[in-house]
Amino acid sequence: MKNKSFQILSLFIVYLFVGFGCKTIKQPFTEYSITKSAEGRNGMVVSAHPFATKVGLDILKKGGNAVDASIAVQFALAVCHPTAGNIGGGGFMVYYSDKGEIATLDYREKAPAAAHKDMYLDAQGNPITKLSLDGALAGGVPGTVEGMWQAFNRYSKLNNWKALIQPSIDAAEFGLGLTKREADGLNGISKSMEEINKGKTVFNPKTWKEGDILIQPELANTLKAIRDRGRDGFYKGDIAKKISQSIISDGGIMTEQDLADYDAKWREPIITFYRGHKIITMPPPSSGGIVLAQLLHAMEPHNIKSLGLHSTALTHLMVEAERRSYADRSTHMGDSDFYPVPLKALIEKNYTFDRMKDFDPSKASPSANIKEGLRESEETTHFSVVDKDGNAVSITTTLNGGYGSKYVVKGVGFILNNEMDDFSVKPGVPNLYGLIGAEANKIEPGKRMLSSMTPTIVLNKDEKPYIVVGTPGGSTIITSVFQTILNIIDHGMDAPTSVAAPRFHHQWLPDMIYTEDNCLTENVRNELKKMGHTITSRGKIGRVEAIILKDGKLQGGADPRGDDDAKAY
Ligand code: DON
Repeated sequence: MKNKSFQILSLFIVYLFVGFGCKTIKQPFTEYSITKSAEGRNGMVVSAHPFATKVGLDILKKGGNAVDASIAVQFALAVCHPTAGNIGGGGFMVYYSDKGEIATLDYREKAPAAAHKDMYLDAQGNPITKLSLDGALAGGVPGTVEGMWQAFNRYSKLNNWKALIQPSIDAAEFGLGLTKREADGLNGISKSMEEINKGKTVFNPKTWKEGDILIQPELANTLKAIRDRGRDGFYKGDIAKKISQSIISDGGIMTEQDLADYDAKWREPIITFYRGHKIITMPPPSSGGIVLAQLLHAMEPHNIKSLGLHSTALTHLMVEAERRSYADRSTHMGDSDFYPVPLKALIEKNYTFDRMKDFDPSKASPSANIKEGLRESEETTHFSVVDKDGNAVSITTTLNGGYGSKYVVKGVGFILNNEMDDFSVKPGVPNLYGLIGAEANKIEPGKRMLSSMTPTIVLNKDEKPYIVVGTPGGSTIITSVFQTILNIIDHGMDAPTSVAAPRFHHQWLPDMIYTEDNCLTENVRNELKKMGHTITSRGKIGRVEAIILKDGKLQGGADPRGDDDAKAY
């Protein structure tokens, strides 16, 4: 008898927890377990937050494919990771299907129709940096909802849009327990958020501590509109009206028409080879794919393993490749719908070999002497997903800076991106990440701002997914993905070790090697300085999420630099 009632109770609990999609637990989600390393055979999600990882894995277990799980993760991050997860931002998806189909989806934000190249300059032509970074004028037209809608319509196996969004609605409605990192993050921006929004918002009603419950009723309503009406629930009707009215009343320029007109685009991926592995990565409007291809090309003639991880010789070689590629980035890269990016020429292997001809193994080449090669003209988040059939998704998605523009759009409960700062607001003037740009990346109506996001899938020699990787980190994204790929392919690391390894970065200008504190020994630093490099330590670089597929097994590495969580089944 006792046994029987235990069985009934267990069944009831299972019903509550495993209930499909719409059956919900009407209480806050607080049970977090963060794992940095995971193994499995049937599916894996590695994301910046344990709630998002759980939501994605649940979808995989219910028979959804990697795209279904990714859509659920994207919406979950919009609730549990407001510093970067978003419906007020945009992103890029790289997809590889078990049938060998390759696709890249661009759901990057676009400049509103009333945007113009001088919109962040004062009467004397000097940049007013705050305007492109904070508040209602800093936002591009968000692309995330349209991106997820298009991915769903093209690739969903579950064919149940509602089930992909419902867990996020519940989390927004009934609340999520804050991790220490989220609590600290929200407290850290509370003051500027209050200034920008002229008062308290749902994100800063008080000082948060770990375990406090964040409830977001307006965001829940916005998500319900998206659940019930698909992309139109966001880009047309009541929600679109509220978004536009709020932004315009606070000094922005985004109209309902801008929202209705937003389109995500399927793009031709960048495909190149590194040591026989096919690399599938993101084309413009990201610079990530081109620069990553160039960096890998520059490594190919060298025996990376024998040079040694973080040795003087290898660090010097990587830095010299980085400064040359980032010089190209600043001149040649922008939205290819608006500017003729010389893509083919830039990803030719011989082009990079040529660029590296003046590489001197004993001396730094000052960036002042490095120009672009051709003569023509923090906070983001990444997740990697693989399903049981071997479909793989690599998505990097962003609001740009931490908590984007910190502008909470009234009545709809989400934070607007500050992606407009990724344009070159004036030629030669550095953006948030110290990157400079020119004509190729000037502001134009309807144009997408240049990105560094580099979601990437590397295939093994049988053309099956081998590495699914990406990271946030602004300009350091490309060099972090680059280092992780070398860590795995050349240095033979497993997934958790490859994402945890210390990192460094060079981006042409400023002419400086940035390193994490624990990267490069004193001796290596001294040797590099003697060769003419300038080195400075900075905080953490990137939060890489990687999955390695090998011998039928999935191995995940979640970056120890954050709350990042890898789980498999
Ligand atoms: O698209 C880009 O390159 C930037 N908006 C990414 C910003 C970012 O990664 C911030 N993360 N820490």
